[in-house]
Amino acid sequence: SASTCVSIAVLGASGDLAKKKTYPALFKLFEKSFLPKDVIIIGYARSAMTNESLRDQLRGYLKGKKEEVDAFLQLCIYVAGQYKLSPAEEGAPPKDFQVLANTIAEFEATFPGDCGKNRLFYLALPPVVYPPVCEGIKKCCMSPYGWSRVVVEKPFGKDLASSEDLNEQICGLFDEKQLYRIDHYLGKEIVQNLMVMRFANTFISPLWNRDNISNIQIIFKEPFGTEGRGGYFDQYGIIRDVIQNHLLQVMALVAMERPATLSPNDMRDEKLKVLKCISPLSTENTVLGQYTMGKNGQPGYLEDDTVPPGSKCPTFAMVVLYVQNERWDGVPFILKAGKALNEHKMEVRVQLKDVAGELFHSIDKPGVAGSTGYNVRNEFVMRVQPDPSIYMKMTVKEPGMQLGITQSELELQYNSKYGEIPIPDAYERLILDCLNGDQQHFVRRDELVEAWKIFTPILHYIDAGGITPEHYPYGSRGPALADKLRERVGHITSITA
Ligand code: BG6
Repeated sequence: SASTCVSIAVLGASGDLAKKKTYPALFKLFEKSFLPKDVIIIGYARSAMTNESLRDQLRGYLKGKKEEVDAFLQLCIYVAGQYKLSPAEEGAPPKDFQVLANTIAEFEATFPGDCGKNRLFYLALPPVVYPPVCEGIKKCCMSPYGWSRVVVEKPFGKDLASSEDLNEQICGLFDEKQLYRIDHYLGKEIVQNLMVMRFANTFISPLWNRDNISNIQIIFKEPFGTEGRGGYFDQYGIIRDVIQNHLLQVMALVAMERPATLSPNDMRDEKLKVLKCISPLSTENTVLGQYTMGKNGQPGYLEDDTVPPGSKCPTFAMVVLYVQNERWDGVPFILKAGKALNEHKMEVRVQLKDVAGELFHSIDKPGVAGSTGYNVRNEFVMRVQPDPSIYMKMTVKEPGMQLGITQSELELQYNSKYGEIPIPDAYERLILDCLNGDQQHFVRRDELVEAWKIFTPILHYIDAGGITPEHYPYGSRGPALADKLRERVGHITSITA
C-alpha cells in the first residue's frame, strides 16, 4: 500500500506558546512513538533563523534523554516568512507561503505514491493574523494527496461579533471538519473522565440533578500573577482568558445530557444544547477582583510593567450561571477563577443537599462546647490539578465508644492508584487527536457562538467601566465579596442554621 507521511507546520514557531507547549508536546509524542514515522516539523515565523538556531532555541524546552532530543530536533526545520500578505500579493499566491508549500512538497516527494500525504498547520499565533495566515495556507499549502487540518488557539475573538467575524473569514476557507479549535482543558485527564464517571456509574447518574444537588462550583486558582503577560492579559481579562472557554467547557461536560453515542458530533451536540440553556450572565451574579501588592511584597497587577496604568482589568471573577432546563433549573453553577491567589488548584465541587430530617441534630460534637449538632451532607469533588483525584465526602460514625459523627472521604487518588501510568499533557493528547482526525475534544463553531452569547453582554458592560474590580492582595483567597455572593446563591439550608 502507499506510504503515508505527515508534515506539521508550527506557525509562530518562535513564540512562547510554540516553545512552551506545541514543541514539547510534539517531542513527548515522538518519545512515546505516537508520531508517524515519516514526519517533518516545519517551524514558520518572521525572524531570520536557521534550522540550527531554531533547534538551539527549542533544546531548552525539551525534557528527555539527549539522544531522543537530538533525534527529535533532526525532524525540525525552519522557514522564515511573513504572516500578512503584502498588498501586491492579494489575489496572487503569497510568496512566503509558497516557500512553505515547496518545503513540504520536497519532503513529500521523498515518498513514493500520491496518497496519504497529510498536512497539519498549527497556528501558535495571535488571532489578528489568523485570517491572512489561513488565506496563505489555503492558497498555497493544501495537500493535494491527503488531509489538511488547521489548529487554532484561543483567544478566538473578544465577543460574539468579533468571534463570528473571525469564523466567517476562516470558515469560508476550510470545512468545519478541517478546523480544530483548541481548548486545552478538554485534553486534561479528569476533564475527559467527567463523561465516563457521569454516564458509567449507576450510583452517580440518578443523583445528578436539581432534586439532589444544591450547587456546583468550578474553581480555578493560580498562585501567580500575569508576570510579563500583562500586555496580552489586559486586553482580555480573566473572564475571556479562562472562564468563557476552559471553565465553561468543563461546566458543559458536567451539565450536559447523555449523548446518543460517543461520536464527536453527538458529544458536541449535547454540549451545545446545554450551553443554549444558560442565560446570559447578569451583573448581580458577578464579582470582579484585581490583585494588589502581596504581603511578601509580590507586585500588584498595576505594578506589572506590561499593564497599562490605571487598568480596571479583572484578574479575578466569580460568576453564577443557571441552566434553564428540567435537570438544573435553580441550581447555581458558581464559576470562580483568579490569578495571584493563595494556591494552585482546579476542581469541580458538586455539593449535595442536606440530608432531610433531624436525626443527627441532637448529637453534640464531642468536646465542642455549645455545639448544636451536625450538618449532614455529601460533596463530590473532582480535582483536575494538582494531584488529580476524585473523592466523595461522606458522613460516617467516628470510630470509638461514643456516637460521634465525622466527615470522611471515599477517595480515588490518581498518584497512588495509577502512579505508574503517566498522565499525558493536555496538548500532547489533543495534537494526537488532530493527527487521528478526532474532533471530540475540540470546540465547534456553534458551541463557541453560545459561549460568547452568555458572556458578551456583561463583558461589554465591564469594558465600559460598569464594574470596578474589588482589590485583593496577591496570595490571598480573593475579594471578600466573592464569599458573599457564594453564600447568597449557594447557601445550603443547614440543620444547624
Ligand atoms: C491559559 C490561560 O489558557 O490557561 C492562562 O491563558 C492560564 O492564563 C492557563 O494560566 C492555565 O492552564 P493550565 O493548563 O496551566 O491550568
